Amino acid sequence: MRRKLAAGNWKMNGLSAALAELDALGDQSASAAEVLICPPATLIAAAASRVSGIAIGGQDCHAAQSGAHTGDIAASMLADAGASHVILGHSERRADHGEDDYTVATKAIAAWEAGLVAVICVGETLDDREAGRTLDVVGTQLSGSVPDGASAANTVIAYEPVWAIGTGKVPTTEQIAEVHDDLRARLVGRFGAEGDGMRLLYGGSVKASNADEIFATSNVDGALVGGASLKAADFGPIIDALNAS
Ligand code: PGA
Repeated sequence: MRRKLAAGNWKMNGLSAALAELDALGDQSASAAEVLICPPATLIAAAASRVSGIAIGGQDCHAAQSGAHTGDIAASMLADAGASHVILGHSERRADHGEDDYTVATKAIAAWEAGLVAVICVGETLDDREAGRTLDVVGTQLSGSVPDGASAANTVIAYEPVWAIGTGKVPTTEQIAEVHDDLRARLVGRFGAEGDGMRLLYGGSVKASNADEIFATSNVDGALVGGASLKAADFGPIIDALNAS
């Protein structure tokens, strides 16, 4: 059985005062689903020492272990600050920083070497979807971004259609199921039982009001949530929906 995962991606949001939202989420140790919050890097250490039963993650790391890379952060630094996970290949990184599948794969290896779980993101643009290329695009991203050596323990996959992120637009559950079933088949084909055990998250405009039907969808093992993870009042009900699913 795959343990469900409710993951929050705060993106470039949150000053120290935002840590109060973690207090408001409360101790999640008894939660059936795993709960993960990825705050900005500046808050990781404080967040990790503050929470119980909530995993803390980074939003990116460099592929190298250390060196002359001004402004970057190494996976070992995230781990040292108390992170257990790192989001990699988010579409905003791919678009804003030109990250390609190879870059994402090298970062995943660095994350594993530091003992972090890599949350690897894939997703099509609206142009891709309208051209009927969704499964090809997402499948290509998956094969290029997930290195050999991926396991159920060290890797989570997040399917995030670019056109659904921050837009309030959500694919139909049939569209989500089509992609998640295809991703599952590809993961099982490549990694066998480990691929069957990898969690597949859906991401893109997940809210309390649509969480139930998304979590009831085939091969959806949880969500990667942006905007609705910033406030405990919004994220708490999403965790509850996942626990009830
Ligand atoms: P959103 O972002 O929930 O605000 O759409 C999701 C994400 O980018 O991970």
